[in-house]
Amino acid sequence: MVSLRQLFLQHQAQTSDFPLMIEVEKAEGIYMYGSEGQRYIDLISGIGVSNVGHRHPKVIRAIHDQLDKYMHLMVYGEFVQAPQVQLAHALSETLPKRLNNTYLLNSGAEAVEGALKLAKRYTGRTELISCYNAYHGSTQGALSMNGSESFKNAFRPLLPDVRHIRYNSIEDLEQITERTAAVLIETVQGEAGVRTPENDYLRRLRERCHQTGTLLILDEIQCGFGRTGTFWAFEQFGIEPDILVCAKGMGGGMPIGAFIAPQEIMAAFKTDPILGHCSTFGGHPVSCAASLATLQVIQEEHLLEGVAQKAALIKELLVHPRIKQIRNQGLMMAAEFESFEVLKAVIDQAILNGVLTDWFLFCDNSMRIAPPLTITEEQIREACQIILTSIEEAVA
Ligand SMILES: Cc1ncc(COP(=O)(O)O)c(C=O)c1O
Repeated sequence: MVSLRQLFLQHQAQTSDFPLMIEVEKAEGIYMYGSEGQRYIDLISGIGVSNVGHRHPKVIRAIHDQLDKYMHLMVYGEFVQAPQVQLAHALSETLPKRLNNTYLLNSGAEAVEGALKLAKRYTGRTELISCYNAYHGSTQGALSMNGSESFKNAFRPLLPDVRHIRYNSIEDLEQITERTAAVLIETVQGEAGVRTPENDYLRRLRERCHQTGTLLILDEIQCGFGRTGTFWAFEQFGIEPDILVCAKGMGGGMPIGAFIAPQEIMAAFKTDPILGHCSTFGGHPVSCAASLATLQVIQEEHLLEGVAQKAALIKELLVHPRIKQIRNQGLMMAAEFESFEVLKAVIDQAILNGVLTDWFLFCDNSMRIAPPLTITEEQIREACQIILTSIEEAVA
């Protein structure tokens, strides 16, 4: 009989010659269970998604309840659908008053596309700025904003009038001018290998955008929804965006994304032309129900409160001569090794030993560590011990 793995390779589009090929039968909490009974600790949350763990019971219940009522009814923005309205309302309650209007979509890249279009439409400008080593998604607009030539050059021509500045460079802020519609920036850079804002950088960026009438779009697709220890990462840096983009952890395992702006800015989509942004499935009711439950779990289970302490414990435990440094903002963490080769050997060995980690798109010598926020101290100790053993086995 043809195995699932053979069918996977034959019929499912591949984007590299080295997929992980782990076959999972079930996932629960921080664990994934393989088809031959293996148990993996998921230390990357499906790349920043399972912030409340896999199959959180309250998320599952919300999904079931919504399935019993309705699924897709109508394209985005026409019908009054309780799951969408309640989610949009709950999101605004987590945000500064100005950010009161949410456009719901299906993924991060889609939300980035919408945010970029909104900024161009609202300001009447065309120039867009993002950072080197930024990752904003894989669709053409989002790809244009990514800060890695090697990943995007093959797909040119991309969006015109896009320029890049260096993350954390005060000097480069001068490149933002009255021509610039928007600066799109990750509050904490993810795929660059967890790079955090330094020396008042975000405040200075915010000031420069105010001076030039440029909209500041914060991409919190990876760092939002509690990942860094506050509900939104920007709360820790004393600034507010004009547009906020989120996805990933927002859905508790279901696909969803959103961009959030003041109503007055979002209104630019209503005229000349009408339907300035459209989506059939945007804000799918089942995803919205899951997202609202996820938001409530983060709040009701006080998940933010444990983040700093759990990150500190990981840093305390992961001490080894092969680990050069650990960068982090809350539970968005990167453990740096001397090279990709060493890291890859450790990651492969850790998988054999039952812990799933990963590297970063634009930082291949660093191990991605971003466990569900629900991980316990005991589980952290076990996972870190397995990583240390794996280092010894792989590169001793
Ligand atoms: C910061 C950031 N922005 C955007 C995206 C794109 O999101 P999606 O893969 O849902 O399109 C990602 C995905 O990794 C991301 O990390």
